[in-house]
Amino acid sequence: MSDLRKVIIDETEVEVDGAMTLIQACEEAGVEIPRFCYHERLSIAGNCRMCLVEVVGGPPKPAASCAMQVRDLRPGPEGQPPVVKTNSPMVKKAREGVMEFMLINHPLDCPICDQGGECDLQDQAMAYGLSGSRFTEAKRAVDNLDLGPLVSTEMTRCISCTRCVRFTTEIAGIAQMGQTGRGEDAEITSYLNQTLDSNLQGNIIDLCPVGALTSKPYAFTARPWELTKTETIDV
Ligand code: SF4
Ligand code: FES
Repeated sequence: MSDLRKVIIDETEVEVDGAMTLIQACEEAGVEIPRFCYHERLSIAGNCRMCLVEVVGGPPKPAASCAMQVRDLRPGPEGQPPVVKTNSPMVKKAREGVMEFMLINHPLDCPICDQGGECDLQDQAMAYGLSGSRFTEAKRAVDNLDLGPLVSTEMTRCISCTRCVRFTTEIAGIAQMGQTGRGEDAEITSYLNQTLDSNLQGNIIDLCPVGALTSKPYAFTARPWELTKTETIDV
């Protein structure tokens, strides 16, 4: 049974299923919300905080739009549809803060990173980040993993979005990847340093929003802007 709810997103009113998350409702309204951990085919982790929006009349802090359902929004005092803002000063400041935290430990090695040109972190830093950093301490470094012949790792670049862990567990059906530690000690790792067993393992190369997981066979072959787009058939 569908439970349609009206919601106003940046002046646009949409009617969506109450079970939808705010990030999906924003997509319905044609508003793109930046994200790192959210993926529509994976479970919701809500750990990157890049998708913050302002819920008018809600708690006076930004809300993670990937982790909140439309049915959780309260209507206005006279029953008006709830209002969500994605371009308010609160949201802008929140995104800048998240980007600054993301880049604290992420190395600035874009010129030698294979993800350069197709990196969500690079794109979102340009679109929503600040031009400088206040971080003067040493950045952390993390040992690389041997995940097998397809996936090359540079784990210092990992932003702990856990997409790779959720994909391998939920879609590929292998419980070989996980996260250990907390805060700055959080690391993505493979169980007992195993290499990945699934035929679907190569997908985590594309899922990783940064250059932590890249293609081993294709390493340093070309930049995305050097390639030619060609229509083809998937045999
Ligand atoms: S390796 Fe990539 S996909 Fe996995 S948690 Fe780190 S950033 Fe996310
Ligand atoms: S996309 Fe919502 S917290 Fe990561």
